[in-house]
Amino acid sequence: MAEQDALDHAIDLARAYAASRRDRPVWATATLQGLREALGGPLPSTAVDPAAVIDALARAAEPGLVTTTGPRYFGFVTGGALPVTVAAEWLTAVWDQPASLYVMSPAAAVVEEVAAAWLLDLLGLPPACSVGFVTGCHMANVTALAAARHELLRAAGWDVEADGLQGAPRIHVVVGDEVHVSVIGALRMLGFGSRQIVRAAADDQGRMKPDALAAILDALHGPAIVCAQAGNVNSGAFDPLDAIADLTRRHQAWLHVDGAFGLWASASDALKHHVRGIERADSCATDAHKWLNVPYDSGLVFVAHPAAHRAAMSLAAAYLVRSPEEPREPMDWVPESSRRARGFAVYAALRSLGRSGVADLVERCCRLARRFADRLRQEPSIEILNEVVLNQVLVRVVPAEGDADAATQAALRLVQDERVCWLGGSRWHGMEAMRISVSNWSTTDQDIDRSADSIIRAARRQGTA
Ligand SMILES: Cc1ncc(COP(=O)(O)O)c(C=O)c1O
Repeated sequence: MAEQDALDHAIDLARAYAASRRDRPVWATATLQGLREALGGPLPSTAVDPAAVIDALARAAEPGLVTTTGPRYFGFVTGGALPVTVAAEWLTAVWDQPASLYVMSPAAAVVEEVAAAWLLDLLGLPPACSVGFVTGCHMANVTALAAARHELLRAAGWDVEADGLQGAPRIHVVVGDEVHVSVIGALRMLGFGSRQIVRAAADDQGRMKPDALAAILDALHGPAIVCAQAGNVNSGAFDPLDAIADLTRRHQAWLHVDGAFGLWASASDALKHHVRGIERADSCATDAHKWLNVPYDSGLVFVAHPAAHRAAMSLAAAYLVRSPEEPREPMDWVPESSRRARGFAVYAALRSLGRSGVADLVERCCRLARRFADRLRQEPSIEILNEVVLNQVLVRVVPAEGDADAATQAALRLVQDERVCWLGGSRWHGMEAMRISVSNWSTTDQDIDRSADSIIRAARRQGTA
């Protein structure tokens, strides 16, 4: 069958899936065994018709899909893929541009350049920052911290790209006690072992305590990186960036901010007080596939020292030809060489939402998170464990008698069985919790109420109310 048939069929299937987003099961219905059987079998020995492959793939995969784009998916921190971004991704796939060098795709290179400037403006970051389009916040953390490592060692007279880390001057790394695990993962990749990292105490919401950081920095000698956080993955809380920036300036430490979703608070006049001080960060990291509602995968890194950023990332080879006009070369700012042109979808999101649309999206999710918490609080057996300052809600079932951890886990299983909404579990300060993240552009008040009712039903079935 012709190539066009496969494309047409895929478009029909994609349209039908998108149209069912609101009502299809939020949870996958297939079992592991069922998926293996449906998708597996021996490698075909000869060619299979492309349209038939697409048809069989969709038929077999669909029961194993989680409707992450649906309005009642509250798992992890997952944006819902705005239709305009999905459309841009379709074009990106058809265009199939390797966004490495300008010569490989002038359009992809310039779209990144334009979107980068828009992002700096929207997020209140210095316009001279360099920007990289990476797979996610984890790789954004890697990129930013590689730039930090370069710059601190350069200032100490050491060329880490040429001479490596063995024998290099020691760099101290300080993180908040509630650091996201991807920062630790990033540091590990860069040669900083997890046992070498110093943790500053955090408060009851997970915010780094500036006095704890001050005491640590006062006792350190030599170059240091401080990793702060905008948006705790459980509570949504923000480290006090202004106070932290005062300390890092005083100690000439590099301030990195992991703002995987919290950085988007900068786009809202009502919320940007949470990130006051972000403009003084040396680097920050965020995700577009979280709160900008761009499809996976899409992360962003911002570095206030472009020379360090580029030195840490860029590679040269005779065949990697650079353009004489000296445009922005996408691969100079990221760890990969060959890479998908993920700037197109980011550009489409920003252009279609505009400044006010991003602010609305972020503020609406926060309002809905508060509504969720308020509904759940009315149930005597439910406690909300965090201050709902952003889009995250931590829910615990506390029975009149018996074990709250067991009741919370059992209630979560019931919610999962009921399949009205998708949420996962976590532990918060030693307590089991259900974790809600409201990050989807299409979630409505009704979705929140239906989901809250499901959680309340589950809590009551613990015999607690
Ligand atoms: C605070 C924080 N940092 C980093 C990450 C990692 O992001 P990603 O999985 O998109 O790479 C997350 C993911 O939830 C996060 O919440």
